[in-house]
Amino acid sequence: MFFNEQLETYIQTHSQPEDPILQELSRETYLKMLHPRMLSGHIQGQLLEMISKMMQPLNILELGTYTGYSAICLAKGLHPKGRLITIDVNDEVESIAQKYFEKSGLAHQIEMRIGDALELIDDINETLDLVFIDASKSDYLGYYQKVLPKVRQGGVIIADNVLWSGKVVETKIRDNDYFTKGILAFNEFVQKDDSVHNFILPMRDGMMMMQKK
Ligand SMILES: C[S@@+](CC[C@H](N)C(=O)[O-])C[C@H]1O[C@@H](n2cnc3c(N)ncnc32)[C@H](O)[C@@H]1O
Repeated sequence: MFFNEQLETYIQTHSQPEDPILQELSRETYLKMLHPRMLSGHIQGQLLEMISKMMQPLNILELGTYTGYSAICLAKGLHPKGRLITIDVNDEVESIAQKYFEKSGLAHQIEMRIGDALELIDDINETLDLVFIDASKSDYLGYYQKVLPKVRQGGVIIADNVLWSGKVVETKIRDNDYFTKGILAFNEFVQKDDSVHNFILPMRDGMMMMQKK
């Protein structure tokens, strides 16, 4: 959902201020990295943090770390004995993410794994309370199908970018547009899947919120 600049500012100034560590992470990401708009950012980060704080999860899995913004937001709500595993295929993001995990004081609860999320999900033996899907858009359905059996009853899965800048309602999709096709296949599958309660939260690029029944 897109708000004009004035409303964006109003939303930001009537919400819990952004953690200074996350502000710094955001600034460094915008200065040094490609595609900085990929990071969750202030308000989406607040949502992830609040959901995590309400759940106090023991085990969180994140697919798609990037520079670690959402991982830190999610880890803020972990149970004191909880852990977050975050996976990214790009080893170039590791040093910046690790630096901010340390700065946030949460590094002891966060483990970053480098590799293809679809493959590395197989190594997850923990029972998951909360999952954030934000890696390759063409693999969303595969992530969901692999992760769902590992999620406890009542556990929550959140998938980002499920409106894909509005492309989900375009009538013509190019044959090689694997990201849009991936998001469409995922959204259709989840909508028909009776094992979760789901809805699309119209925040930013759309977030599919799912709770396992
Ligand atoms: C949208 S960014 C993640 C943003 C991050 N969750 C945040 O909110 O700050 C997507 C990330 O997924 C990673 N990625 C893409 N394909 C992947 C794959 N097959 N396996 C694991 N990570 C992947 C990219 O390298 C990128 O860092």
